[in-house]
Amino acid sequence: MKSHLHPKNDITINPSGNESIRDVIERVSMKRRRFIMTAVGASAVTVLGDVTIGGILQTVAASTVPAGLGFAGIGFESVEPNLLNPATGILEKDLVTVPQGYKAQVLVAWGDPIMPGAPNWSSDASQDAAAQEKQFGMNADGMHFLPIPGRSYHRRTSGLPVPVEGRAFNTRGLLCVNHEFTQEQFLHPEGLNPVTIQKVRKSQAANGVSILEISKDRFGNNWSVNRNSRFGRRITGNTEMRVAGPVAGSDFVKSKKFDITPDGSFEIGVNDGYTAYGTVNNCAHGETPWGTYLTCEENWNGYFQNATRTVVSVPGVEDADILQGQNRYGIPTSSRFGWASVDPRWDASTNPLEPHLFGWVVEIDPYDPQSKPVKRTTLGRFKHESAQFVVDDNNRLAFYMGDDERNEYIYKFVCSRPFNPNVRGANRDLLDYGTLYVAKFNDNGTGEWLPLVYGQGGLTPENGFRSQAEVLVKTRQAADRVGATMMDRPEWTAVRPRIGGFNEIEVYCALTNNNRRGTEPESVNEADGSTISGSSRPPVDPANPREDNRYGHIIRWRETGRSVAATSFNWDIFVECGDKQDPDPNHVGNINGDDLSSPDGLWFDDFGRLWIQTDHAGTGTGDVVNIGSNTMSCANPNNPREIKRFLTSPTDCEVTGVITTPDGRAMFINIQHPGSRGSTENPTSRSNWPHSQGYGPAGRPRSATVVITRDNGGIIGAI
Ligand code: FEO
Ligand code: CA
Ligand code: CA
Repeated sequence: MKSHLHPKNDITINPSGNESIRDVIERVSMKRRRFIMTAVGASAVTVLGDVTIGGILQTVAASTVPAGLGFAGIGFESVEPNLLNPATGILEKDLVTVPQGYKAQVLVAWGDPIMPGAPNWSSDASQDAAAQEKQFGMNADGMHFLPIPGRSYHRRTSGLPVPVEGRAFNTRGLLCVNHEFTQEQFLHPEGLNPVTIQKVRKSQAANGVSILEISKDRFGNNWSVNRNSRFGRRITGNTEMRVAGPVAGSDFVKSKKFDITPDGSFEIGVNDGYTAYGTVNNCAHGETPWGTYLTCEENWNGYFQNATRTVVSVPGVEDADILQGQNRYGIPTSSRFGWASVDPRWDASTNPLEPHLFGWVVEIDPYDPQSKPVKRTTLGRFKHESAQFVVDDNNRLAFYMGDDERNEYIYKFVCSRPFNPNVRGANRDLLDYGTLYVAKFNDNGTGEWLPLVYGQGGLTPENGFRSQAEVLVKTRQAADRVGATMMDRPEWTAVRPRIGGFNEIEVYCALTNNNRRGTEPESVNEADGSTISGSSRPPVDPANPREDNRYGHIIRWRETGRSVAATSFNWDIFVECGDKQDPDPNHVGNINGDDLSSPDGLWFDDFGRLWIQTDHAGTGTGDVVNIGSNTMSCANPNNPREIKRFLTSPTDCEVTGVITTPDGRAMFINIQHPGSRGSTENPTSRSNWPHSQGYGPAGRPRSATVVITRDNGGIIGAI
């Protein structure tokens, strides 16, 4: 069945008799088949169009795209899983492993110098906050590469020309890297306790973003960091920022102002509502088509504490409203890293408006080291995962975003003004004007974007929404009110490039797992916003079809009319992850290739390959005994059953962050929190990576960025 909402593909119909999408659907497991028949049968066919897979491939191959561009298959042999060694209790290999013909080299690791004046890393963790403020942060996550010179580099999702050839774009650039959180047991010689302000300052300095200049040597395939680059920059948990958009200047963000020194935070008044200090828990990311970097604040709530579950009264915002928000966003009674015990800025009881300054997307201009980062409040406040953009044929611009918590929502932000591809400065404040939407996935394979606009859909004063600023500060409560669909932890979004005759706006989202889906007693996110963060237990639905969804799935949708401004879409489930050897049919999944668990990072390269990175326990035990380490796999968007394992990782880490140079010949990925179950007393008991891979001194495991190249200099993943 074809929906009138879904224009016919412009890809050719292949009369060859190759397997059709309907054939594929027929071959799926009983459970999957039943699901499709009852729930999204229409969309599963419609989204892919009534065309054959062979037809899609043939058309892509035949279309006129720049040399090398266009999906032409996955061209590597899967690597073996890195499984548990029962004798040691850790994984067999303390290595990053890539396919034959590929090379993985550590580029930069936690503590390495990235700017003038930065010292070399010391393996005993004795360096202080001042050193960390000039060194690569901890636990690298989302990441982007911006060529130098290269202000005109647009990803193919913009539908605009991409300068991919030429040495200048592919041998030197700025790597922008998020740092999600700290492993306190490795960050300090004696671990977290006792908490001191000096340790907290170092911890704050290890969060945030690193901007580093990297380049490739002239004749080889070796990349290195220019440690004296004028672009080298650290943005941390204390960096001064500007607040922009509807929340700027409002009472919600006039928190206490502190003089932040190495030895303490000293109250000196009230913030003006246009100023914020720091960004934390920088998980996934985004970029803009005008060459700025977006860092997204995810589990920022855990840095705060409200031990008394009370707040001191502040002008303009009611105590009960603040406390409801702290519950809805999960402010804990004791802070995860002890910050609030020595830094009163992070005490959500005595400084109750400070949490309103977190949970945003922050825009950074990496090309201007003097620029002040900007918190763009128009894009909503939640536990942000990535913010991936699309520019449609009318130069309209949208960003697709996940809120990563059990039973939270998928959002998009549509700029009200068109993108100007010719004048970079004209886009400077584009992110301050537009409409935030939240997704509702209907059972029949259609979906709706519900606007979060003051005065609409019950976002009115009688329901606690008195301005657009309040709607944005209370984004989750607003989404509860309008009836968004609770999802199985929305992680990264990814946008399929429009190349080779493929012109749809097709967006994917990793739903990493949800152990509360389908469990008792059934409950939902209440429309009054009173539901405690992550606590609801919704029943299964067609978009989240599995109870106790341990392995996760990937959902995708197409915008109606190929417009980012569409308020409707069609969706289907791209793949259900799982373990084929698991005896429970609910956990088997429907991958035909290499199994994976808990998809998190998701990214399309410019050639149309979908890269999937995972974040499960990384122990090789329990649910992942047959899957082993976390992985990065490559998927064919034309055939979701074709998934190949490209990379395996050391014990306890997740694989996250992925970007290539524009020519696709160097890929950068991050290994985060290797050996995280190691202790202060014995840091390397679980992993000694990257030392184990020949990088840097031994002493403690370190998160690091890895550059992957091919021995033949070819495009990563290509045949
Ligand atoms: Fe930081 Fe949702 O992963
Ligand atoms: Ca993530
Ligand atoms: Ca993660």
